[in-house]
Amino acid sequence: MEKKITVLPGDGIGPEVVASAVKVLQAIGKRYNHEFQLSYAAIGGSAIDEYNNPLPDETIAICEASDAILLGAVGGPKWDNNPPELRPEKGLLKIRKRFDLFANLRPVKAIPSLLGASPLKSEVAENVDLMIVRELTGGIYFGEKHRDYGQASDLNIYTREEIERIVENAFELARLRRGKLCSVDKANVLETSRLWREVVEEKKELYPDVEVEHNLVDSVAMKLITNPGHYDVVVTDNMFGDILSDEASVITGSLGVLPSASIRSDNFGLYEPVHGSAPDIAGQGKANPAATILSVAMMLRYSFGLQEEAAEVERSVSAVFDDGYYTADLAKGNSRTLTTDEWTDRVIAEIDTN
Ligand code: NAI
Ligand code: MG
Repeated sequence: MEKKITVLPGDGIGPEVVASAVKVLQAIGKRYNHEFQLSYAAIGGSAIDEYNNPLPDETIAICEASDAILLGAVGGPKWDNNPPELRPEKGLLKIRKRFDLFANLRPVKAIPSLLGASPLKSEVAENVDLMIVRELTGGIYFGEKHRDYGQASDLNIYTREEIERIVENAFELARLRRGKLCSVDKANVLETSRLWREVVEEKKELYPDVEVEHNLVDSVAMKLITNPGHYDVVVTDNMFGDILSDEASVITGSLGVLPSASIRSDNFGLYEPVHGSAPDIAGQGKANPAATILSVAMMLRYSFGLQEEAAEVERSVSAVFDDGYYTADLAKGNSRTLTTDEWTDRVIAEIDTN
């Protein structure tokens, strides 16, 4: 298989973790005979420095000519006082909107040897293998905003089409996983939620192999930390998804291992770690590259349909943790602390020798 990938290293630890993920991608390409052509471009703070624009036209053109995008992270203190249009995170918001990446996928899966880092009891955290599917380009974050003297409003608006496409996406994902879908809403009080529930009920007919439940967001907020093992795929709107995905991200106890994808219906997607640019550890070889490496696994699976290759990346990452090798963020007691590059080399050795 031949694929073109745009690489956007970004700021802070972004370039370090992206370099690791690219090495792993190349190892997979070599092992399974795929050709991954990489094109590098600028985004975020480094793009502001070079082009005075957090998402330069050159970057958009390169992304348009590719099959998927791999992104590190953007931001840092250097740009914190910039005007809104010249903020690094503006580049991220723009690229998601520009490429209509309406489905945000955030998997949370327990890694057995990391259970000690979870704030939940091991017996609660050990069964976790869930995926939050958040609608990313509609709803209250994008609806009309209004401010009068004594009042303010934000319009929560969804079209049937916007709900249909995210719900279909979630059903397809459930099929690729354990066949369970939980749709989250607030249908007892919100009209958008009632439409949402209606659409899920209609789509359900097309996916008789997927087991569906509807749940209210407040109840899911509780169950996500008391019984997270209950969930497989969780689909919800933009705001509920924002909140629940952050809640779910603490389950594993480390930001450094959480990947994400933002995709659209033709499987074009942007893959990035959940964490930010970590300026406090940038340039020191301390960054944990696992989240970005696992984001590459998601790219292989969801944009390229390479299930076996994706599973091999995930297996290799777990194997290195199981062997007791960690980067500084996770290293404790008698574990072995490696630099970003050393840890990445262990993952590559797993891929090469397995
Ligand atoms: P952060 O995720 O960058 O860092 C939070 C804490 O986790 C820090 O102590 C950091 O050292 C640690 N950490 C994060 N990723 C790590 C990794 N891979 N390995 C080891 N330790 C890791 O969040 P923070 O500090 O709130 O934001 C820093 C900058 O990143 C800000 O400019 C923020 O706007 C930006 N940011 C960018 C995001 C993105 O590009 N998608 C997402 C979140 C924040
Ligand atoms: Mg959030």
